[in-house]
Amino acid sequence: MTGVKIVGVGHYAPERIVDNQELETWFDTSDEWITSRTGMKRRHWTSENEATSDLALGAARMALAHARLEPKDIDAYVVATVYPDYLFPATACIVASRLGAVDKAAFDIEIGCSGFIYGLTVTSALVRSGVYKRVMLIGAETLSKLVDREDRGTAVLFGDGAGAVILEAAEQDSFLASELGSDGSNPSILLVKAGGSRRPLDERALDERADRIHMEGREVFKFAVTKMISATDAALAKAGIAKSDVNVLIPHQANKRIIDAAMKYLDIPPERCMVNIQEYGNTSAASIPIALSEAVNAGRVKPGDVIVFVGFGAGLSWGAVVWKWA
Ligand code: COA
Repeated sequence: MTGVKIVGVGHYAPERIVDNQELETWFDTSDEWITSRTGMKRRHWTSENEATSDLALGAARMALAHARLEPKDIDAYVVATVYPDYLFPATACIVASRLGAVDKAAFDIEIGCSGFIYGLTVTSALVRSGVYKRVMLIGAETLSKLVDREDRGTAVLFGDGAGAVILEAAEQDSFLASELGSDGSNPSILLVKAGGSRRPLDERALDERADRIHMEGREVFKFAVTKMISATDAALAKAGIAKSDVNVLIPHQANKRIIDAAMKYLDIPPERCMVNIQEYGNTSAASIPIALSEAVNAGRVKPGDVIVFVGFGAGLSWGAVVWKWA
């Protein structure tokens, strides 16, 4: 067994910014309501002709430049997304080919907003076991295309973007522990009903919003706070690291109130927690790698730092990874 480290980070968001003031012109909402209930001010939304692979490509190129690597140097490409370009092929295949890396392994991971946490666990295992020397993991989403734009309860929450990391085999191991979980007993809490094999053959049986995000906000809120806390505690216990030794916590950016509640209970000071929700909203599987890339570029992460990545999402699903920055 070898070790793994992150040698490159990158992020990308579409140019078009939808701020709270614009949303006020769409339906009965206010900047005050959105800011106080979520912490969000702006989100980036793709244009008509941009898809998930376009955003993934932007993040991948930045990560390659940061690592000073060429696309051919990467052995496998993995994209975590809930909204691929197509039902198939996998978006990772499209991204790898557009980078000019043909013949490489490429596959997608679909586990909602927990995609980056699950992806980091799986890709780290691929490197640590010696299967691959270098793997690119990208979280990329275009949920602005999946929300019901007339539903103020969900349309304000989601944004588009992509974040990427390049993992490389190393002598010292950055991967300290992972804790993953799921509970699929009540999928309707966070669901897009249409688009899969439960779709009725007679399209008229589907209600017109069936291909849009349905969410029971309060239920998700309670679940999110609980699982952020328990997953962080469990992953730190596995790693044998005390909460007081965590230098940076990078949570999924779904709601500032969820983050604040979890931080308070975990007793981790707010200045150790990376928050950029005001700029991007909830970008699902992209939110943690975007925040990591921004944290690295801002000098907030230093060699030797202990980082906790923690997230939750549809499934329901959740997870945390403890990582020592190299
Ligand atoms: N603007 C103004 N009012 C809004 C609104 C908006 N954008 N969205 C909802 N409201 C209204 C509701 O209709 C409700 O009105 P009512 O009392 O007349 O019925 C009122 O605000 C309160 O709704 P409630 O659902 O109790 O608000 P909340 O404090 O729970 O906040 C969420 C709603 C969605 C922000 C919050 O529940 C949340 O963030 N949940 C988790 C979502 C999440 O993380 N999803 C992604 C998981 S990966």
